[in-house]
Amino acid sequence: MKFDNTVVVFKSNNTKHLSVIQEDQTFVTQNGTIKHNDIKTLPTKVKTSKDQEYEVYIPSFDEFILLMKRGPQIIYPKDIGSIIISGNISKFSNILEIGTGSGALTLYLSLILDKDSNLITLDESNKNQRRAKKTIERYISSNHAGTKISEIEYLNLQLSDFIFDDVSNKVDTVITDIPEPWEFFDNNSVKQNLQWVSYLPSITQVQKIVTELSNNKFININVTETLNREWIVDNRIVRPKNEMVGHTGFVVSGRFLFS
Ligand SMILES: C[S@@+](CC[C@H](N)C(=O)[O-])C[C@H]1O[C@@H](n2cnc3c(N)ncnc32)[C@H](O)[C@@H]1O
Repeated sequence: MKFDNTVVVFKSNNTKHLSVIQEDQTFVTQNGTIKHNDIKTLPTKVKTSKDQEYEVYIPSFDEFILLMKRGPQIIYPKDIGSIIISGNISKFSNILEIGTGSGALTLYLSLILDKDSNLITLDESNKNQRRAKKTIERYISSNHAGTKISEIEYLNLQLSDFIFDDVSNKVDTVITDIPEPWEFFDNNSVKQNLQWVSYLPSITQVQKIVTELSNNKFININVTETLNREWIVDNRIVRPKNEMVGHTGFVVSGRFLFS
């Protein structure tokens, strides 16, 4: 079957569901069923057994990470944008990510980094890393089958047991999404050019990492929060939506330049 194992969105007027196409399987909705075998092209429009139209297509990155089954809380797409700019990240970056979690950020980084760049991701939870690895492989095989992406090195470790010198020659950027990123400095001192970015939900955590970065001679320390307001633009209705995603997290960035 042509689209076997492809991740798709089933979209009706008011709902979106993520699903994996599999031979002889059926997608069940409140408005009837769709046989996976009837999906012959992508993107496509199909009718359910109750004559309701659905659009079926391969998800964009943000649809995929917002709709996917996940473990730990992901970084929202709007905050990934902010992390990329705050961290001065380009395809040439060599990144150590602390807190693989559900792999949302890891996936995005693997999509933008050059295939020769380094991407190392650390997490104390083997379960989370295994789930993240599967998620990333599934997205890549659906959206970019056959494309060579940067290899991801998974380190299954607690930050308190991590020795930065073991990987420092492969890293110019550290991104953290864990509750206590300052633990990094308990065992490690930075001796090289390094860009630092921490994603943190609470302002007391922000205060602590800012203090720690200053004590460790980081400069240009910046704290930002990104609020995204969606608008409805539909004939005569032109206004912001009533609801929005409010606070998610703060992005703290800084640079270490001189030892
Ligand atoms: C919020 S999740 C990261 C989510 C991820 N950024 C994403 O977008 O999917 C935090 C992860 O950090 C890991 N973690 C928390 N504290 C840690 C520590 N001290 N050392 C290593 N991993 C830690 C947890 O196991 C969890 O998987």
